[in-house]
Amino acid sequence: MSKRQIVEISTQEAKRQTEIINILSQRIKGKNLKFCLSTFGCQMNARDSEKIKGMLEEIGYLQTENEDEADFILYNTCCVRENAETKIYGRLGALKGKKRENPNLIIALCGCMMQQDMVVETLKKNYKFVDIIFGTYNTYKLPELLQTRLETGENIIDIWDSYKDIVEDLPDARKYDHKACVNIMYGCNNFCTYCIVPYVRGRERSRQPEDIMNEIKGLVADGVTEIMLLGQNVNSYGKTLENPMTFAALLKQISQIEGLKRIRFMTSHPKDLNDELIEVMASHDNICKSLHLPFQSGSSKVLKRMNRHYTKESYLELAHKIKKAMPNIGFTTDIIVGFPGETEEDFNDTMQVVDEIGYTSAFTFVYSKRTGTPAATMEEQVDEQVAKERFNRLTALVNQKAAEALSKYQGQTVEVLLEEISKNNRSVLSGRTDTGILVNVEASEDMIGQYVPVYIKETKSHYLVGELAK
Ligand code: SAH
Ligand code: SF4
Ligand code: F3S
Repeated sequence: MSKRQIVEISTQEAKRQTEIINILSQRIKGKNLKFCLSTFGCQMNARDSEKIKGMLEEIGYLQTENEDEADFILYNTCCVRENAETKIYGRLGALKGKKRENPNLIIALCGCMMQQDMVVETLKKNYKFVDIIFGTYNTYKLPELLQTRLETGENIIDIWDSYKDIVEDLPDARKYDHKACVNIMYGCNNFCTYCIVPYVRGRERSRQPEDIMNEIKGLVADGVTEIMLLGQNVNSYGKTLENPMTFAALLKQISQIEGLKRIRFMTSHPKDLNDELIEVMASHDNICKSLHLPFQSGSSKVLKRMNRHYTKESYLELAHKIKKAMPNIGFTTDIIVGFPGETEEDFNDTMQVVDEIGYTSAFTFVYSKRTGTPAATMEEQVDEQVAKERFNRLTALVNQKAAEALSKYQGQTVEVLLEEISKNNRSVLSGRTDTGILVNVEASEDMIGQYVPVYIKETKSHYLVGELAK
């Protein structure tokens, strides 16, 4: 399909959904209806949920955090690990009673988990009270699906097996005033052997650079100063565009936008991170010196079985090269333990990488078998107890190294963007350094969104404690 056709379909689709939003808003006017949206999984889902929220608010629904007072309950689901799915089934079980008490309640499920045939079959059989089921490729169709449900009273299942077009310009409700996430691409082509994402999010496709630039300019005009660019592998951005473009070139363009103070991005795949990107990061002050660089395993043998296309040595070399260009860089990572075939020796390689790089934080996971992925049928699945025990050793080292990395900030004054009220104490705001580290500071709520110098008094295991510098 040519670019022109895609743009035309997108505009038509956006227009259609906008018309339906208007019809629905007449229908529910004055009824004071509320929706409760729970989001599971990664930033991709979080971003999709902002779009879902935007459409529902445009229709006239009010948001509530309390399912008991909701007229419309939605779960935006994740299936990256088994426990993500177990959680959803658990929550769904509890909804059954609510639906019996209030037959007008509408329940919708969407997101990655819905892209698996097995799940939809289970829902059809055992969870008949779910009213609307849709997937990752047609999130934008929610207004139409809701309209059909309201008009026919029938359960709606609309799952596509690939994307048709990228729909731009629908309503959108951002969570924060000062920072925002922007998708630069969707899907993934990497097929790491453990991972379900390519099956539920489809092939990689990049948004047009003009669309990305316009979205960011609009956000900045709206008061946003920090953006997070999202993609499963941002380093391969632009390869499939009609006029191919590198991620580094996109980043360079974005960094020229006046008023944009901080640019972050995730996730970087080590196999595609090149010198051009390092150079652009190092030479632009508004590109944050923080990098999420998942290594998954330190063993070259396991990495090969994972289909990651790099080795322990090449990963370490890359990380050191980045450190040399940006000595203050804050590294974070993702690690899996217990991948099929992982021996004690392989695990020690993982420990060595953590020891050598010293991440400021790391997401650690026990390998979870995902049906349909190549790793699920690999021999030598690791015993659960062994994996658990390795996991505990790994998290102990990750925490120790993170504390060491954070302690270097003690006594320094750093610039912090104050982002939100701390979860535990209303007179404390949390924010982040340019290098991505969480800082708690005593400050008043009206300072949210400001960049302030903070003197670091204390280091905790996962964050810093500071005071506003005079
Ligand atoms: N695109 C990103 C990651 C997306 S999923 C990347 O390549 O880094 C987020 C993390 O979940 C992965 O980095 C991996 O560490 C973890 N993960 C994915 N599938 C998993 C599985 N089957 N079991 C355990 N962890 C998994
Ligand atoms: Fe999954 Fe690998 Fe794609 Fe990341 S790069 S989403 S881990 S397949
Ligand atoms: Fe993200 Fe989970 Fe989907 S990690 S892409 S929400 S499977």
